Amino acid sequence: MSTFPRPLRAVVLAAGQGKRMKSALPKVLHPVLGREILARILDALDHLNPEHIHIVTGHGADQVNAFLTKFPPRTPWSTHLQEPQLGTGHALTQVSPSLDSFTGTLLVVPADSPLLSANTLTTFVQQHSNESCTLTLLSTMVDDPRNYGRILRGSSGAVQAIVEDKDASDEQRKIREINTAIYCLEWPALKPGLSDLKNDNKQGEYYLTDLVAWSAAREMKLGATIAADADEVAGINSRIELAESTRMMRDHTNRRLALESGVTIIDPQSTWIAPEVRIGRDTTVLPGCYLIGDIDIGENCIIGPNTQITGRCTIGSRTTIIQSHITSSDIGSDTRIGPFAHIRDHAEISDKCRIGNFVEVKKSQIGASTNISHLSYIGDASLGSSVNIGAGTITANYDRISGKKSRTIIGDGSSTGSNSVLVAPVVIGTDSMVAAATVVTRDVPDGALAVGRARQENKDKWVISRRERLRSEVCT
Ligand code: UD1
Ligand code: CA
Repeated sequence: MSTFPRPLRAVVLAAGQGKRMKSALPKVLHPVLGREILARILDALDHLNPEHIHIVTGHGADQVNAFLTKFPPRTPWSTHLQEPQLGTGHALTQVSPSLDSFTGTLLVVPADSPLLSANTLTTFVQQHSNESCTLTLLSTMVDDPRNYGRILRGSSGAVQAIVEDKDASDEQRKIREINTAIYCLEWPALKPGLSDLKNDNKQGEYYLTDLVAWSAAREMKLGATIAADADEVAGINSRIELAESTRMMRDHTNRRLALESGVTIIDPQSTWIAPEVRIGRDTTVLPGCYLIGDIDIGENCIIGPNTQITGRCTIGSRTTIIQSHITSSDIGSDTRIGPFAHIRDHAEISDKCRIGNFVEVKKSQIGASTNISHLSYIGDASLGSSVNIGAGTITANYDRISGKKSRTIIGDGSSTGSNSVLVAPVVIGTDSMVAAATVVTRDVPDGALAVGRARQENKDKWVISRRERLRSEVCT
Protein backbone atom coordinates (compact mmCIF):
# COMPACT_ATOMS: atom_id res chain seq x y z
CA MET A 1 0.00 0.00 0.00
CA SER A 2 1.18 3.48 -0.85
CA THR A 3 1.80 5.80 2.10
CA PHE A 4 0.14 8.73 0.32
CA PRO A 5 -3.48 9.81 0.84
CA ARG A 6 -4.37 9.64 -2.86
CA PRO A 7 -3.79 6.75 -5.30
CA LEU A 8 -0.33 7.07 -6.87
CA ARG A 9 0.93 5.89 -10.25
CA ALA A 10 4.36 6.50 -11.76
CA VAL A 11 5.33 7.19 -15.35
CA VAL A 12 8.91 6.71 -16.56
CA LEU A 13 9.73 8.48 -19.83
CA ALA A 14 12.22 6.17 -21.50
CA ALA A 15 11.57 6.52 -25.23
CA GLY A 16 14.17 9.13 -26.10
CA GLN A 17 17.08 8.18 -28.28
CA GLY A 18 19.82 9.59 -26.13
CA LYS A 19 21.52 10.86 -29.30
CA ARG A 20 24.37 12.42 -27.38
CA MET A 21 25.43 9.02 -25.99
CA LYS A 22 26.48 7.92 -29.52
CA SER A 23 25.59 4.35 -28.60
CA ALA A 24 23.87 1.30 -30.06
CA LEU A 25 22.57 0.61 -26.54
CA PRO A 26 19.53 2.63 -25.42
CA LYS A 27 20.64 5.28 -22.93
CA VAL A 28 18.51 3.84 -20.11
CA LEU A 29 20.36 0.51 -20.31
CA HIS A 30 23.80 1.99 -19.70
CA PRO A 31 25.00 0.85 -16.28
CA VAL A 32 26.05 3.20 -13.50
CA LEU A 33 28.21 1.31 -10.99
CA GLY A 34 26.99 -1.99 -12.36
CA ARG A 35 23.25 -1.38 -12.53
CA GLU A 36 21.32 -0.02 -15.51
CA ILE A 37 20.03 3.56 -15.23
CA LEU A 38 16.45 2.30 -15.75
CA ALA A 39 16.83 -0.38 -13.05
CA ARG A 40 18.05 2.24 -10.58
CA ILE A 41 15.03 4.45 -11.26
CA LEU A 42 12.61 1.51 -10.98
CA ASP A 43 14.22 0.54 -7.64
CA ALA A 44 13.54 4.02 -6.28
CA LEU A 45 9.94 3.97 -7.55
CA ASP A 46 9.31 0.50 -6.06
CA HIS A 47 10.04 2.01 -2.63
CA LEU A 48 7.10 4.39 -3.03
CA ASN A 49 4.67 1.50 -3.53
CA PRO A 50 2.71 3.05 -6.38
CA GLU A 51 -0.25 1.12 -7.83
CA HIS A 52 1.46 0.81 -11.18
CA ILE A 53 4.53 1.93 -13.15
CA HIS A 54 3.93 2.97 -16.77
CA ILE A 55 7.12 2.88 -18.83
CA VAL A 56 7.12 4.76 -22.14
CA THR A 57 9.45 3.04 -24.61
CA GLY A 58 10.45 3.97 -28.13
CA HIS A 59 14.06 4.08 -29.12
CA GLY A 60 15.50 0.56 -28.61
CA ALA A 61 12.10 -0.65 -27.33
CA ASP A 62 12.96 -4.29 -28.06
CA GLN A 63 16.09 -4.11 -25.92
CA VAL A 64 14.26 -2.25 -23.15
CA ASN A 65 11.39 -4.79 -23.21
CA ALA A 66 13.82 -7.72 -23.07
CA PHE A 67 15.54 -6.09 -20.11
CA LEU A 68 12.24 -5.48 -18.28
CA THR A 69 11.10 -9.06 -18.84
CA LYS A 70 14.33 -10.29 -17.31
CA PHE A 71 14.52 -7.74 -14.48
CA PRO A 72 10.96 -6.50 -13.84
CA PRO A 73 10.20 -3.98 -11.09
CA ARG A 74 8.36 -5.28 -7.99
CA THR A 75 5.42 -3.00 -8.76
CA PRO A 76 2.87 -3.99 -11.46
CA TRP A 77 4.08 -2.40 -14.68
CA SER A 78 3.35 -1.95 -18.38
CA THR A 79 5.13 -0.48 -21.37
CA HIS A 80 3.65 2.05 -23.78
CA LEU A 81 5.26 2.40 -27.20
CA GLN A 82 5.89 5.95 -28.41
CA GLU A 83 6.61 5.82 -32.11
CA PRO A 84 7.79 8.24 -33.45
CA GLN A 85 9.19 10.18 -30.50
CA LEU A 86 7.75 13.67 -30.71
CA GLY A 87 8.74 15.01 -27.30
CA THR A 88 8.13 14.51 -23.59
CA GLY A 89 4.51 15.73 -23.75
CA HIS A 90 3.79 13.35 -26.61
CA ALA A 91 5.43 10.58 -24.53
CA LEU A 92 2.95 11.07 -21.67
CA THR A 93 0.07 11.15 -24.18
CA GLN A 94 0.86 7.49 -24.98
CA VAL A 95 -0.06 6.51 -21.41
CA SER A 96 -3.29 8.50 -21.42
CA PRO A 97 -5.60 5.72 -22.75
CA SER A 98 -4.56 3.46 -19.84
CA LEU A 99 -5.49 6.13 -17.31
CA ASP A 100 -9.14 6.61 -18.25
CA SER A 101 -10.46 5.56 -14.88
CA PHE A 102 -7.51 6.83 -12.82
CA THR A 103 -8.27 9.73 -10.50
CA GLY A 104 -5.12 10.06 -8.41
CA THR A 105 -1.61 11.54 -8.58
CA LEU A 106 0.77 10.79 -11.41
CA LEU A 107 4.48 10.97 -10.61
CA VAL A 108 6.39 11.55 -13.85
CA VAL A 109 10.15 10.93 -13.95
CA PRO A 110 12.66 10.92 -16.80
CA ALA A 111 14.61 7.70 -17.30
CA ASP A 112 18.01 9.35 -17.17
CA SER A 113 18.48 10.37 -13.51
CA PRO A 114 20.01 7.30 -11.83
CA LEU A 115 20.92 9.04 -8.56
CA LEU A 116 17.34 9.90 -7.74
CA SER A 117 16.56 8.47 -4.30
CA ALA A 118 13.33 7.04 -2.94
CA ASN A 119 13.60 9.57 -0.07
CA THR A 120 13.64 12.59 -2.34
CA LEU A 121 10.70 11.24 -4.36
CA THR A 122 8.69 10.42 -1.22
CA THR A 123 9.19 13.91 0.22
CA PHE A 124 8.28 15.39 -3.14
CA VAL A 125 4.98 13.48 -3.45
CA GLN A 126 4.14 14.21 0.19
CA GLN A 127 4.68 17.92 -0.34
CA HIS A 128 2.50 17.86 -3.45
CA SER A 129 -0.34 16.21 -1.55
CA ASN A 130 0.07 18.26 1.67
CA GLU A 131 -0.21 21.48 -0.33
CA SER A 132 -3.10 20.14 -2.43
CA CYS A 133 -1.43 21.25 -5.64
CA THR A 134 -2.64 20.31 -9.09
CA LEU A 135 0.89 20.29 -10.46
CA THR A 136 4.17 20.31 -8.54
CA LEU A 137 7.53 20.35 -10.23
CA LEU A 138 10.91 19.52 -8.77
CA SER A 139 13.52 22.13 -9.58
CA THR A 140 17.07 22.69 -8.43
CA MET A 141 19.73 25.40 -8.47
CA VAL A 142 22.85 24.76 -10.55
CA ASP A 143 25.95 26.80 -11.37
CA ASP A 144 25.87 25.81 -15.00
CA PRO A 145 22.25 25.70 -16.22
CA ARG A 146 23.13 25.09 -19.88
CA ASN A 147 20.83 22.65 -21.76
CA TYR A 148 18.22 22.58 -18.97
CA GLY A 149 14.74 24.06 -18.97
CA ARG A 150 14.64 27.24 -16.81
CA ILE A 151 11.93 27.94 -14.23
CA LEU A 152 10.16 31.25 -14.82
CA ARG A 153 8.65 32.80 -11.67
CA GLY A 154 6.45 35.88 -11.42
CA SER A 155 7.09 38.86 -9.15
CA SER A 156 5.37 37.06 -6.25
CA GLY A 157 7.69 34.08 -6.72
CA ALA A 158 4.95 31.84 -8.11
CA VAL A 159 5.95 29.50 -10.94
CA GLN A 160 4.58 30.63 -14.29
CA ALA A 161 6.27 28.53 -16.95
CA ILE A 162 9.30 26.49 -17.98
CA VAL A 163 11.30 27.64 -20.96
CA GLU A 164 13.63 25.22 -22.72
CA ASP A 165 17.25 26.25 -23.19
CA LYS A 166 16.92 26.31 -26.97
CA ASP A 167 13.84 28.57 -26.80
CA ALA A 168 15.08 30.85 -24.03
CA SER A 169 16.09 34.50 -24.39
CA ASP A 170 19.56 35.61 -23.27
CA GLU A 171 17.97 37.06 -20.13
CA GLN A 172 16.13 33.78 -19.36
CA ARG A 173 19.31 31.78 -19.91
CA LYS A 174 20.83 33.51 -16.87
CA ILE A 175 18.28 31.83 -14.57
CA ARG A 176 19.98 29.19 -12.45
CA GLU A 177 16.83 27.43 -11.27
CA ILE A 178 16.31 24.51 -13.64
CA ASN A 179 13.68 21.88 -14.30
CA THR A 180 14.58 18.33 -13.24
CA ALA A 181 11.75 16.88 -15.41
CA ILE A 182 10.18 15.31 -12.31
CA TYR A 183 6.53 16.24 -11.73
CA CYS A 184 3.47 15.33 -9.71
CA LEU A 185 0.25 15.78 -11.66
CA GLU A 186 -3.34 15.48 -10.57
CA TRP A 187 -4.38 13.40 -13.52
CA PRO A 188 -8.03 14.22 -14.27
CA ALA A 189 -7.37 17.99 -14.00
CA LEU A 190 -4.27 17.99 -16.21
CA LYS A 191 -5.23 15.39 -18.79
CA PRO A 192 -6.96 17.96 -21.08
CA GLY A 193 -3.72 19.99 -21.08
CA LEU A 194 -1.92 17.24 -22.98
CA SER A 195 -4.21 17.58 -26.00
CA ASP A 196 -3.63 21.35 -25.97
CA LEU A 197 0.19 21.05 -26.29
CA LYS A 198 1.69 22.61 -29.45
CA ASN A 199 5.01 21.90 -31.13
CA ASP A 200 5.70 25.47 -32.26
CA ASN A 201 9.17 25.62 -30.66
CA LYS A 202 12.80 25.37 -31.80
CA GLN A 203 12.83 21.56 -31.54
CA GLY A 204 9.39 21.01 -33.12
CA GLU A 205 8.46 18.82 -30.12
CA TYR A 206 5.45 18.52 -27.82
CA TYR A 207 7.00 19.62 -24.53
CA LEU A 208 5.58 18.28 -21.26
CA THR A 209 7.04 21.42 -19.71
CA ASP A 210 4.37 23.51 -21.46
CA LEU A 211 1.80 21.96 -19.11
CA VAL A 212 3.11 24.37 -16.46
CA ALA A 213 2.11 27.52 -18.38
CA TRP A 214 -1.15 25.79 -19.37
CA SER A 215 -2.15 25.19 -15.74
CA ALA A 216 -0.88 28.63 -14.61
CA ALA A 217 -3.18 30.20 -17.23
CA ARG A 218 -6.10 28.26 -15.73
CA GLU A 219 -5.19 29.37 -12.21
CA MET A 220 -4.60 25.86 -11.02
CA LYS A 221 -2.53 25.50 -7.86
CA LEU A 222 1.12 25.09 -8.84
CA GLY A 223 3.91 24.04 -6.52
CA ALA A 224 7.67 23.97 -6.97
CA THR A 225 10.00 22.11 -4.67
CA ILE A 226 13.67 23.01 -4.91
CA ALA A 227 15.75 19.85 -4.46
CA ALA A 228 18.58 20.57 -2.04
CA ASP A 229 20.96 18.16 -3.71
CA ALA A 230 21.46 19.06 -7.37
CA ASP A 231 23.69 15.98 -7.85
CA GLU A 232 20.80 13.67 -7.16
CA VAL A 233 18.60 15.00 -9.94
CA ALA A 234 21.34 15.31 -12.56
CA GLY A 235 20.28 13.80 -15.89
CA ILE A 236 22.64 11.83 -18.10
CA ASN A 237 22.76 12.91 -21.73
CA SER A 238 26.34 12.12 -22.78
CA ARG A 239 29.17 9.79 -21.80
CA ILE A 240 30.77 12.71 -19.97
CA GLU A 241 27.64 13.05 -17.82
CA LEU A 242 27.55 9.26 -17.39
CA ALA A 243 31.07 9.47 -15.93
CA GLU A 244 30.09 12.43 -13.73
CA SER A 245 27.00 10.65 -12.39
CA THR A 246 29.08 7.54 -11.71
CA ARG A 247 31.58 9.64 -9.79
CA MET A 248 28.79 11.32 -7.80
CA MET A 249 27.27 7.94 -6.96
CA ARG A 250 30.74 6.76 -5.84
CA ASP A 251 31.20 9.81 -3.60
CA HIS A 252 27.72 9.47 -2.05
CA THR A 253 28.26 5.77 -1.37
CA ASN A 254 31.75 6.19 0.11
CA ARG A 255 30.52 8.99 2.38
CA ARG A 256 27.56 6.93 3.56
CA LEU A 257 29.74 3.87 4.26
CA ALA A 258 32.23 6.00 6.18
CA LEU A 259 29.69 8.05 8.15
CA GLU A 260 26.90 5.53 8.75
CA SER A 261 28.49 2.08 8.54
CA GLY A 262 31.88 2.82 10.14
CA VAL A 263 33.94 1.65 7.18
CA THR A 264 37.47 3.01 6.64
CA ILE A 265 38.02 3.91 3.01
CA ILE A 266 41.65 4.95 2.70
CA ASP A 267 41.40 6.57 -0.73
CA PRO A 268 37.78 7.38 -1.67
CA GLN A 269 38.79 8.61 -5.12
CA SER A 270 40.19 5.26 -6.20
CA THR A 271 37.52 3.17 -4.47
CA TRP A 272 34.39 2.37 -6.50
CA ILE A 273 31.61 0.77 -4.50
CA ALA A 274 28.04 0.31 -5.77
CA PRO A 275 25.33 1.73 -3.47
CA GLU A 276 23.81 -1.72 -2.85
CA VAL A 277 27.03 -3.10 -1.32
CA ARG A 278 26.76 -3.64 2.45
CA ILE A 279 29.94 -3.46 4.54
CA GLY A 280 30.26 -4.12 8.27
CA ARG A 281 31.84 -1.95 10.94
CA ASP A 282 35.62 -1.51 11.12
CA THR A 283 36.26 -3.07 7.75
CA THR A 284 39.01 -1.27 5.81
CA VAL A 285 38.89 -0.87 2.06
CA LEU A 286 42.34 -0.13 0.64
CA PRO A 287 42.98 1.85 -2.56
CA GLY A 288 42.06 0.57 -6.00
CA CYS A 289 39.02 -1.54 -5.11
CA TYR A 290 36.03 -2.06 -7.40
CA LEU A 291 33.06 -3.61 -5.55
CA ILE A 292 30.08 -3.83 -7.85
CA GLY A 293 27.04 -6.01 -7.25
CA ASP A 294 24.84 -7.51 -4.57
CA ILE A 295 27.67 -7.83 -2.07
CA ASP A 296 27.68 -8.35 1.69
CA ILE A 297 30.97 -7.89 3.54
CA GLY A 298 31.25 -8.51 7.29
CA GLU A 299 33.07 -6.62 10.06
CA ASN A 300 36.82 -6.13 10.55
CA CYS A 301 37.77 -7.27 7.07
CA ILE A 302 40.61 -5.88 5.01
CA ILE A 303 39.73 -5.60 1.34
CA GLY A 304 42.43 -4.65 -1.16
CA PRO A 305 44.44 -3.01 -2.34
CA ASN A 306 43.39 -3.52 -5.98
CA THR A 307 40.60 -6.01 -5.45
CA GLN A 308 37.59 -6.53 -7.70
CA ILE A 309 34.46 -8.12 -6.28
CA THR A 310 31.45 -8.47 -8.59
CA GLY A 311 28.10 -10.25 -8.81
CA ARG A 312 26.32 -11.72 -5.80
CA CYS A 313 28.94 -12.29 -3.09
CA THR A 314 29.07 -12.71 0.65
CA ILE A 315 32.20 -12.31 2.72
CA GLY A 316 32.32 -13.10 6.45
CA SER A 317 34.12 -11.15 9.15
CA ARG A 318 37.86 -10.72 9.79
CA THR A 319 38.63 -11.92 6.28
CA THR A 320 41.47 -10.42 4.23
CA ILE A 321 41.37 -10.21 0.45
CA ILE A 322 44.53 -8.87 -1.18
CA GLN A 323 44.92 -8.01 -4.90
CA SER A 324 42.32 -10.53 -5.99
CA HIS A 325 39.25 -11.00 -8.20
CA ILE A 326 36.08 -12.53 -6.77
CA THR A 327 32.86 -13.07 -8.76
CA SER A 328 29.55 -14.51 -7.56
CA SER A 329 31.03 -16.46 -4.65
CA ASP A 330 30.73 -16.85 -0.89
CA ILE A 331 33.72 -16.56 1.41
CA GLY A 332 33.64 -17.29 5.13
CA SER A 333 35.20 -15.59 8.15
CA ASP A 334 38.86 -15.48 9.24
CA THR A 335 39.91 -16.46 5.76
CA ARG A 336 42.81 -15.04 3.78
CA ILE A 337 42.60 -14.70 0.02
CA GLY A 338 45.43 -13.66 -2.34
CA PRO A 339 47.46 -11.96 -3.44
CA PHE A 340 46.42 -12.72 -7.03
CA ALA A 341 43.65 -15.24 -6.44
CA HIS A 342 40.66 -15.69 -8.75
CA ILE A 343 37.54 -17.03 -7.05
CA ARG A 344 34.57 -17.39 -9.37
CA ASP A 345 31.21 -18.86 -10.36
CA HIS A 346 29.59 -19.91 -7.10
CA ALA A 347 32.69 -20.95 -5.26
CA GLU A 348 32.00 -21.45 -1.56
CA ILE A 349 34.95 -21.00 0.73
CA SER A 350 34.40 -21.72 4.43
CA ASP A 351 35.97 -20.18 7.52
CA LYS A 352 39.69 -20.13 8.36
CA CYS A 353 40.83 -21.01 4.85
CA ARG A 354 43.90 -19.79 3.07
CA ILE A 355 43.68 -19.34 -0.69
CA GLY A 356 47.07 -18.10 -1.79
CA ASN A 357 48.80 -16.58 -4.76
CA PHE A 358 47.92 -17.58 -8.31
CA VAL A 359 45.13 -19.90 -7.22
CA GLU A 360 41.90 -20.16 -9.20
CA VAL A 361 38.84 -21.68 -7.53
CA LYS A 362 35.75 -22.18 -9.68
CA LYS A 363 32.34 -23.63 -8.74
CA SER A 364 33.81 -25.55 -5.80
CA GLN A 365 33.08 -25.98 -2.11
CA ILE A 366 36.05 -25.63 0.17
CA GLY A 367 35.69 -26.86 3.77
CA ALA A 368 36.89 -25.05 6.88
CA SER A 369 40.61 -24.65 7.63
CA THR A 370 41.57 -25.88 4.17
CA ASN A 371 44.65 -24.38 2.50
CA ILE A 372 45.30 -23.96 -1.20
CA SER A 373 48.34 -21.80 -0.92
CA HIS A 374 50.03 -21.57 -4.30
CA LEU A 375 49.58 -21.94 -8.05
CA SER A 376 46.58 -24.28 -8.23
CA TYR A 377 43.37 -24.70 -10.23
CA ILE A 378 40.45 -26.15 -8.31
CA GLY A 379 37.34 -26.42 -10.51
CA ASP A 380 34.06 -28.34 -9.98
CA ALA A 381 35.40 -29.81 -6.76
CA SER A 382 34.28 -30.45 -3.18
CA LEU A 383 37.04 -30.28 -0.63
CA GLY A 384 36.44 -31.28 3.00
CA SER A 385 37.86 -29.52 6.00
CA SER A 386 41.57 -29.32 6.93
CA VAL A 387 42.66 -30.35 3.45
CA ASN A 388 46.06 -29.23 2.27
CA ILE A 389 46.51 -28.71 -1.46
CA GLY A 390 50.16 -28.68 -2.54
CA ALA A 391 51.58 -26.07 -4.89
CA GLY A 392 50.64 -26.64 -8.51
CA THR A 393 47.80 -29.12 -7.90
CA ILE A 394 45.35 -29.13 -10.80
CA THR A 395 41.88 -30.61 -11.09
CA ALA A 396 41.55 -31.80 -14.69
CA ASN A 397 37.80 -31.25 -14.85
CA TYR A 398 37.15 -30.77 -18.56
CA ASP A 399 36.82 -33.38 -21.29
CA ARG A 400 37.24 -31.48 -24.53
CA ILE A 401 35.66 -34.18 -26.71
CA SER A 402 32.44 -34.67 -24.75
CA GLY A 403 32.48 -31.04 -23.61
CA LYS A 404 31.61 -32.34 -20.13
CA LYS A 405 32.95 -31.14 -16.81
CA SER A 406 33.40 -33.67 -14.00
CA ARG A 407 33.76 -33.37 -10.26
CA THR A 408 36.64 -34.02 -7.91
CA ILE A 409 35.87 -34.90 -4.29
CA ILE A 410 38.48 -34.76 -1.54
CA GLY A 411 37.65 -35.92 1.99
CA ASP A 412 38.51 -34.22 5.29
CA GLY A 413 42.15 -34.13 6.37
CA SER A 414 43.62 -35.25 3.03
CA SER A 415 46.50 -33.67 1.17
CA THR A 416 47.93 -33.50 -2.31
CA GLY A 417 51.63 -33.15 -3.11
CA SER A 418 53.03 -30.50 -5.41
CA ASN A 419 52.28 -30.77 -9.09
CA SER A 420 49.66 -33.49 -8.79
CA VAL A 421 46.89 -33.77 -11.36
CA LEU A 422 43.48 -35.03 -10.28
CA VAL A 423 41.68 -36.33 -13.37
CA ALA A 424 37.94 -35.98 -12.73
CA PRO A 425 35.63 -37.65 -12.01
CA VAL A 426 37.62 -38.86 -9.04
CA VAL A 427 37.13 -39.31 -5.30
CA ILE A 428 39.98 -38.97 -2.84
CA GLY A 429 38.94 -40.37 0.53
CA THR A 430 39.41 -38.87 3.96
CA ASP A 431 42.81 -38.62 5.63
CA SER A 432 44.58 -39.81 2.49
CA MET A 433 47.59 -38.50 0.62
CA VAL A 434 48.52 -37.97 -2.99
CA ALA A 435 52.27 -37.99 -3.60
CA ALA A 436 53.88 -35.12 -5.46
CA ALA A 437 53.65 -35.26 -9.26
CA THR A 438 51.06 -38.02 -9.18
CA VAL A 439 48.41 -38.19 -11.90
CA VAL A 440 45.36 -39.53 -10.08
CA THR A 441 43.00 -41.34 -12.44
CA ARG A 442 41.43 -43.80 -9.99
CA ASP A 443 39.68 -43.17 -6.65
CA VAL A 444 41.91 -43.15 -3.57
CA PRO A 445 40.55 -45.02 -0.51
CA ASP A 446 40.42 -43.43 2.96
CA GLY A 447 43.80 -43.36 4.66
CA ALA A 448 45.73 -44.49 1.53
CA LEU A 449 48.72 -42.98 -0.27
CA ALA A 450 48.39 -42.64 -4.05
CA VAL A 451 51.67 -42.57 -5.95
CA GLY A 452 51.54 -42.52 -9.71
CA ARG A 453 54.80 -41.40 -11.25
CA ALA A 454 57.82 -42.96 -12.91
CA ARG A 455 60.07 -44.59 -10.31
CA GLN A 456 63.31 -42.70 -9.80
CA GLU A 457 66.58 -44.38 -10.76
CA ASN A 458 69.99 -42.99 -9.72
CA LYS A 459 72.82 -43.83 -12.13
CA ASP A 460 76.04 -43.86 -10.09
CA LYS A 461 78.82 -41.61 -11.35
CA TRP A 462 76.96 -41.08 -14.66
CA VAL A 463 77.93 -37.41 -14.96
CA ILE A 464 81.63 -37.98 -14.28
CA SER A 465 81.95 -40.85 -16.73
CA ARG A 466 80.09 -38.98 -19.50
CA ARG A 467 82.38 -36.01 -19.11
CA GLU A 468 85.48 -38.26 -19.34
CA ARG A 469 84.12 -39.99 -22.42
CA LEU A 470 83.57 -36.66 -24.21
CA ARG A 471 87.05 -35.45 -23.31
CA SER A 472 88.72 -38.60 -24.69
CA GLU A 473 86.74 -38.23 -27.96
CA VAL A 474 88.08 -34.67 -28.43
CA CYS A 475 91.68 -35.80 -27.83
CA THR A 476 91.67 -38.59 -30.41
C1 UD1 B 1 14.10 17.65 -20.28
C2 UD1 B 1 13.16 18.83 -20.00
C3 UD1 B 1 13.98 19.98 -19.41
C4 UD1 B 1 14.71 19.51 -18.16
C5 UD1 B 1 15.55 18.26 -18.45
C6 UD1 B 1 16.07 17.70 -17.15
C7 UD1 B 1 11.37 18.78 -21.69
C8 UD1 B 1 10.87 19.38 -22.92
N1 UD1 B 1 12.54 19.26 -21.24
O1 UD1 B 1 15.05 18.06 -21.26
O2 UD1 B 1 13.11 21.06 -19.09
O3 UD1 B 1 15.53 20.55 -17.67
O4 UD1 B 1 14.75 17.25 -19.07
O5 UD1 B 1 16.96 16.64 -17.37
O6 UD1 B 1 10.72 17.93 -21.14
N2 UD1 B 1 11.63 11.15 -23.81
C9 UD1 B 1 10.62 10.33 -24.30
N3 UD1 B 1 10.05 10.64 -25.51
C10 UD1 B 1 10.41 11.72 -26.24
C11 UD1 B 1 11.44 12.56 -25.73
C12 UD1 B 1 12.01 12.25 -24.51
O7 UD1 B 1 10.26 9.36 -23.69
O8 UD1 B 1 9.83 11.92 -27.33
C13 UD1 B 1 12.24 10.81 -22.52
C14 UD1 B 1 13.73 10.57 -22.62
O9 UD1 B 1 14.00 9.20 -22.83
C15 UD1 B 1 14.26 11.06 -21.26
C16 UD1 B 1 13.23 12.11 -20.83
O10 UD1 B 1 12.07 11.91 -21.65
O11 UD1 B 1 14.29 10.04 -20.31
C17 UD1 B 1 13.76 13.52 -21.02
O12 UD1 B 1 14.11 13.68 -22.38
P1 UD1 B 1 15.45 14.40 -22.83
O13 UD1 B 1 15.53 14.37 -24.32
O14 UD1 B 1 16.59 13.87 -22.07
O15 UD1 B 1 15.09 15.87 -22.39
P2 UD1 B 1 16.06 17.05 -22.02
O16 UD1 B 1 16.49 17.73 -23.26
O17 UD1 B 1 17.11 16.58 -21.12
CA1 CA C 1 17.76 14.58 -20.26
